[in-house]
Amino acid sequence: MSFRWHSYPTPHDAAAAAARHIAELLATTLASHASASFAVSGGSTPRLLFDELVSQPVDWARVHVFWVDERAAPPTHESSNYRLAAERLLRPARVPENNIHRVCAELPPDIAAERYRQELAAFFALPLGQPPAFDVMQLGLGADAHTASLFPGEKLLEDHERSAAAVFVEKHGQWRVTLLPETLRRARASLFLVSGADKAEAVRAVFEEPADPHRYPAQILHDNPGVTWFLDDAAARLLKK
Ligand code: 6PG
Repeated sequence: MSFRWHSYPTPHDAAAAAARHIAELLATTLASHASASFAVSGGSTPRLLFDELVSQPVDWARVHVFWVDERAAPPTHESSNYRLAAERLLRPARVPENNIHRVCAELPPDIAAERYRQELAAFFALPLGQPPAFDVMQLGLGADAHTASLFPGEKLLEDHERSAAAVFVEKHGQWRVTLLPETLRRARASLFLVSGADKAEAVRAVFEEPADPHRYPAQILHDNPGVTWFLDDAAARLLKK
């Protein structure tokens, strides 16, 4: 498997490089389209990314923001991926409300997932449930090589038909709503932003172990030419230079 990747001395350097890359990807899309669709992940890594993105020259009035996954919690809850993005990107960058397509994660998970599938179908003008193609998608990586909320052994890793679904994450005892593999794969341009020594083994496994997305879910994208990895040196330390 061949991966396009860059590593940087610090998490901040990696986030700044990823932010520049996202801004370039969005500008490329907007050069020939009226709007661009941008799906963001949650967790802790995007904090630095969002802070850097706010200072990038992006025409946010034409960018529609979606979520790769969301925890089953109200938008004000500390675990909410929407809350993190709202505080660190959407409000500071003045992204128009109509451009924000959050998961209604305050609802029961299956209803939240159905609402999100409806939102995706409406925005992308697709039949309900059909996986859309985002212009730009930002992904993270767990120390167990999960991405989105698709964890090792998750049966939804075999769901190649639908766009998004509710998932119970045993490891965290938490319901979530997540984009499904085909939606991740169809993104025209994706980037992983991964930092920290605790991710080094997961990065190595995803890059160097034989393709086995059930064991290493981030390998869903292993043969996707539109993927770029932004790593700090700590997360990249086990990769062959
Ligand atoms: C989430 C994310 C998830 C994240 C990884 C890495 O909702 O938690 O979407 O896929 O990208 O778990 O999380 P950290 O950035 O916190 O290490």
